[in-house]
Amino acid sequence: MSFTKINTEILAEIQLALGIEKVFTDADSLDQYSHDETEDLRYQPEIVVKPVSVEDVSQLLKICNSHNVPVTPRGGGTGLSGGALPVYGGVSLSMEKFKSIIEIDINNLQATVEPGVITEDFINAVAEKGLLYPVDPSSKGSCFIGGNVAHGSGGPRVVKYGTIREYILNLEVVLPNGEIIWTGANTLKYASGYNITQLMIGSEGTLGVVTKIVTKLLPKPTQSVLMMGSFSTNGDACAAVSAIFRAGVTPSALEFMERKGVEWVIKFDDIKFDLKDGVAALLMIEFDGDDLDDIFKNCEKTNVVLEEHHCTEVLFADTATQKEELWRMRRTMAESVKANSVYKEEDTVVPRAALPKLIGGIKEIGTKYGFESVCYGHAGDGNLHVNIIKAGMSDEDWKDKLSFGIAEIFELTAALGGTLSGEHGIGLVQKDFMPIKYSEIHLNLMRGIKRVFDPNGILNPGKIMPDTN
Ligand code: LAC
Ligand code: ZN
Repeated sequence: MSFTKINTEILAEIQLALGIEKVFTDADSLDQYSHDETEDLRYQPEIVVKPVSVEDVSQLLKICNSHNVPVTPRGGGTGLSGGALPVYGGVSLSMEKFKSIIEIDINNLQATVEPGVITEDFINAVAEKGLLYPVDPSSKGSCFIGGNVAHGSGGPRVVKYGTIREYILNLEVVLPNGEIIWTGANTLKYASGYNITQLMIGSEGTLGVVTKIVTKLLPKPTQSVLMMGSFSTNGDACAAVSAIFRAGVTPSALEFMERKGVEWVIKFDDIKFDLKDGVAALLMIEFDGDDLDDIFKNCEKTNVVLEEHHCTEVLFADTATQKEELWRMRRTMAESVKANSVYKEEDTVVPRAALPKLIGGIKEIGTKYGFESVCYGHAGDGNLHVNIIKAGMSDEDWKDKLSFGIAEIFELTAALGGTLSGEHGIGLVQKDFMPIKYSEIHLNLMRGIKRVFDPNGILNPGKIMPDTN
């Protein structure tokens, strides 16, 4: 792909159209916007632009499109697949000024929100009105709802409530040529042609820039109970997962954590948790609702399943503080892995009954290539975050051989009926593995869609699709 560098004329055109105060060229800004949370990858943009209105975004894209300048949209910068990295330079388009919760419509249980709103702020704002927006990824305290749309985000509650795909009704989008559209309607049903709203969700900023988001909301459950089951093998813990659903209960979260991850997070984040000797893995299981008796019935059914799967201990978090502490343990696991080791993260997802085979296979592949792995994640969704730890692997092997090991992990994932990413996206770091799961026919359909939206390929180039030779 070849693009135009931003020369003084193009820069002046952007500054004139948007206002000089929205365009940044200083070294600190370029450095700050050169990375997200993906490993230690860095790609410098040529300029950073912080628009404040849909018209600004439209003007910017029009100019960049006419000059063939790449534009990489950016949310909170918490991504784990390199989606916000400006790999071809150009403009880093930060949506951080789009901070308004425009409306919480209690009559329709809907809200209209700008993409730069921090997810947790939105969750709290609707909670104050007794409502639930259940999409709460671990990075909820700093990620943007626009980034969540771009990645089709999930989080622990997907297992009961679904991903963000279930909650987005309509989007205002600026297309790469600067045109502005609404993708759908503010309705709970949509049978009116191709569903462009769903196409935009998970498109990782490659098709358009989202400037307004209409979400569905739910009544907020008033009660929840959190249980924690300990297991002496990964296999037992993973086998219990699908059995819980077969017993006829649906938890509002069902998370898996491997021992090493728990040890690291306890140390890294000073978590109070008594991790007993011999425990290899934990299942964290939450039920929510309005009726505590119902919730406890579900806990009892779950307890039976856990016992059948050789669970060694079941703890109940009684107080809000205990619950918060356990959730903090789970939610800070990604950061603690990052702090502890050179690592690479994959976001495998399989049908949930295949989890024991997935984790067993990952360990075998690790033995073959000499890496260790720390796995945790949304077991109820069959979604395992696999953190590959460099451990004893030499620098050369880490550089030259690891990708073969990762390919084997994805081959296994695909063979089990799964796919490359459940919620972190493909972005930059997984795109070369796409052909393991998707045929050339499939990839060409995706490339065709990209061309319809973005014929010049200026929007977030170098993401999702493997490069063609
Ligand atoms: C989590 C993030 C890494 O589940 O997706 O903690
Ligand atoms: Zn996750």
